[in-house]
Amino acid sequence: MELPNSVNYLSSTYGDAFADVYDDWYQQVTDVEGTVALISHLSQGREVLELGVGTGRLALPIASKGIPTTGVDSSSEMLRRLKARDTSKVVKIHLADMAEWLPVGPFKIIFCAYNTFFNLVNSAEQEQCLQLVRDRLTPDGLFIVEAFVPSNYSLLPTRGVESRHLANTTVLNITIREKVSGIVRGQSVELGESGAVLRPWKILIKTPDELDQIAARQNLKLVERWQDWQQSAFTSTSDHHVSVYALANS
Ligand SMILES: C[S@@+](CC[C@H](N)C(=O)[O-])C[C@H]1O[C@@H](n2cnc3c(N)ncnc32)[C@H](O)[C@@H]1O
Repeated sequence: MELPNSVNYLSSTYGDAFADVYDDWYQQVTDVEGTVALISHLSQGREVLELGVGTGRLALPIASKGIPTTGVDSSSEMLRRLKARDTSKVVKIHLADMAEWLPVGPFKIIFCAYNTFFNLVNSAEQEQCLQLVRDRLTPDGLFIVEAFVPSNYSLLPTRGVESRHLANTTVLNITIREKVSGIVRGQSVELGESGAVLRPWKILIKTPDELDQIAARQNLKLVERWQDWQQSAFTSTSDHHVSVYALANS
């Protein structure tokens, strides 16, 4: 069994591999209601863009509130599922790598939820993405990131094998953390009667401070940091953060 390597791992690899099980395995993995409520509130009913929109777990309920919502994703398989779910065609979608292209907007809110920013697996891509974000925000726009805090996150993948029972199936997650690059790569192995299904994934983890530094280099300043979508106070023991950035010169 091979772990993905940097040669064949593309920006579409994760999404294409997980699209068939995504809604079964991850529908409730984060606070959908809280995310929808806060994004809707902060948008003031204006244009919202989700980076790595996936199957529309978050974008669909936001758009259903009448908020003009656009999603970008690099996986055609994820977007195919979003389209199938979006029978009223409320979410505008674009197949694109968020480090390379974003719709012009401008957007009042651009957000990247559920650790999706870490799917950009080198620092240059993370910088490029935030440069695009900066250029696509309205002057009063906000960029919102949800991610885990590596030092406090007990489920942080490091090295080894863990098993999970997900939606009536057993899944082994084989993980390797590269010490120098900080990249964590893994292989999700779903064991079924007809054999094993392999789904590779790869992330480049950043601390909240590191994210602030990348943002600052792109003229984005931190204006709020909560530990969740309910706006609970962020503390030294928080294992997740919801961080809000605005244009530094706004
Ligand atoms: C963890 S899923 C999150 C999906 C959705 N935001 C949610 O919360 O359910 C990450 C998504 O980001 C997409 N993605 C990964 N790398 C990307 C990239 N470079 N550009 C655009 N989308 C990307 C994947 O295809 C996948 O749909």
